[in-house]
Formats: sequence, C-alpha cells, structure tokens
Amino acid sequence: MKRATTERIGKLPVARRVIELRRSIGGWRRAGETVALVPTMGALHAGHLALVARARELCDRVVASIFVNPAQFGPNEDFARYPRNEAADAAKLAQARCDLLYAPAVEEIYPPGFSTTVTAGSIAEGLCGRFRPGHFAGVATVVTKLLLEAQADVACFGEKDYQQLQVIRRVARDLDIPVQIEGVATVREADGLALSSRNAYLAPEERAIAPVLQRTLRDVARRIESGETDIDAAVEAGIAELARAGFAKIDYLEVCDAETLAPLTHADRPGRVLAAVWLGRTRLIDNVRLTPLR
Ligand code: PAJ
Repeated sequence: MKRATTERIGKLPVARRVIELRRSIGGWRRAGETVALVPTMGALHAGHLALVARARELCDRVVASIFVNPAQFGPNEDFARYPRNEAADAAKLAQARCDLLYAPAVEEIYPPGFSTTVTAGSIAEGLCGRFRPGHFAGVATVVTKLLLEAQADVACFGEKDYQQLQVIRRVARDLDIPVQIEGVATVREADGLALSSRNAYLAPEERAIAPVLQRTLRDVARRIESGETDIDAAVEAGIAELARAGFAKIDYLEVCDAETLAPLTHADRPGRVLAAVWLGRTRLIDNVRLTPLR
C-alpha cells in the first residue's frame, strides 16, 4: 500500500488527521513500542517541556498534541487572542525529542453534527468550575477524544492545573479508558510564579505582584501543617494576604481533599491548597500540596 508523505515542520513529523495519528501510533505499537501522549494548547514553555521529558522517561515514543480547544473557553475568555505559534512550538518539541506532533484543525475534532459532551460531575463543579461554567466539560470532552484517538499507554498532565488533572483521572477511570494518567510537578520561575502561557499578558507591575500567589498558598499550607486546626482561619489569613498584595479579585482560595477536591475540614488526609486570582484582565491559578498531620 502506498503511504501518503508525512508533513514535517523542520524535523518534526506532523499529523493533521486522526487517521494519520492512528497510522503512526499503530505502527509503533505493532513493533512493541510504548507510547505517551502530551496534550497541550501550544505556546509551549518549560512547563510543557517537563511533561515531554517525563513522557520520554516513561515510554519509547512521545506524541504531543497542540489544539486550542474552543469548547473550553467561555464567550468572554481569550480564545481569539490565545497565543499561537506552531513553528516555534514544533522546534521546541523536536529539541525535546518528541516523535510526532498532532495538530488537528477545529473541524477535525468537531466536524459538522458533533454533539456529544463528557461531563465529570461534582469534581468539576467546585473551584474553577464555579467561575468557568462549561470549561471542564470542554476539557473532558476534548481530552477523552484525544485519549481515544491516540490510544497511548500513558498521558501526561501538569499539577499546575490540579483540578483539570483530577477531572481527567476521574473521566479516564469512569469510562475505562485504558491509559495511565501521569501527573507532573509544576515548573516555576525563580521567584515561584508557575509558568503559564497567560503570564505573557501581565504588565510589569502585575508581574511583580504575581509571585505572592504561590507564597500565600505555601503560607496557608505551612500554617495548617504546623498545627492550625481552624482551616477557615488559615484561609481567611491567606485571602487577606492576597488582597494586601494587590490582587484585584480573588475568585477562591480553598483547602481541598487532594483526590476528590471536596472541602477539607481536618488535615488528616492529603490535601491541596488551591486559588484563582486576577491581576488586571489576567486570571492566574496555582496550588500547593498539603501534607496530612499524623
Ligand atoms: P495547556 O494550558 O497548554 O497545558 C498543557 C499541559 O501543560 C497541561 O497538562 C498543564 O497542566 C501543563 N502545564 C502548564 N503549565 C505548567 C507548568 N508550569 N508546570 C507543569 N505543567 C504545566 O491544559 C491545557 O493546555 C488544556 O486544558 C488541555 C489539557 C490541552 C485540553 O485542551
């Protein structure tokens, strides 16, 4: 059978269609190789590349996807202005020894007549779910499609988007999608700010305030870890610290069970301190681990 020539950007092979993706991955799997998928929306930075590096450690082949998913953006969010630079991203992926880029058009993922949505239930309703209606349904739907399209052994996601990671774990488990979901630690700037494509929107004076977010979350965690039993009091102190630093709006700061994301009232189980805040028109999220008291 004659094969279509594979598109390349620089050195990196690119698949635009599900059928091409399946052809490449199917070939690897038949040869006994394992495959890891790293889903992204592009504008790649060192956080994304840490996922690629982890994928490389775990599997023989690494596929990254770039798809700015319209279904997960609200009507007043930044879909239109979301940074897009496929050539620069492809160069970074090639450098990180990625084997294939999957970069489908919107019509490939959502062809005319598309009407199915995956929703994850209560784990997607609190925290960011409360402020971004439909966001996690958009994420769960596209990630389910990407997992089924690639049929990879492993898929890597960042702890930076901790609720997203837990939503995806829930969906994969509930729908028996045969993939190992691998969480990867957040990559940060030297001053503690979590790397994010949206950091590019920050004005210099906003950028100067931004690292206070992580510092505050760590303060809240430290307070509880050193014996503060009143979790609400620790949260109130954190919110006051953020307001003092100049965050324009605080969507939430919460202490949750690390797995279910239900509110945590006693620090007797692994927890997570999570927040979403605004600097001007830019929304930042971050989270840190809360180690349970023995
Ligand atoms: P995107 O924001 O491009 O992020 C892609 C992946 O990179 C996610 O798993 C995210 O958690 C991870 N990531 C981002 N910043 C990180 C950092 N500083 N350290 C470690 N990992 C980081 O998240 C999405 O895209 C989309 O919602 C997607 C899952 C691709 C579905 O459309």
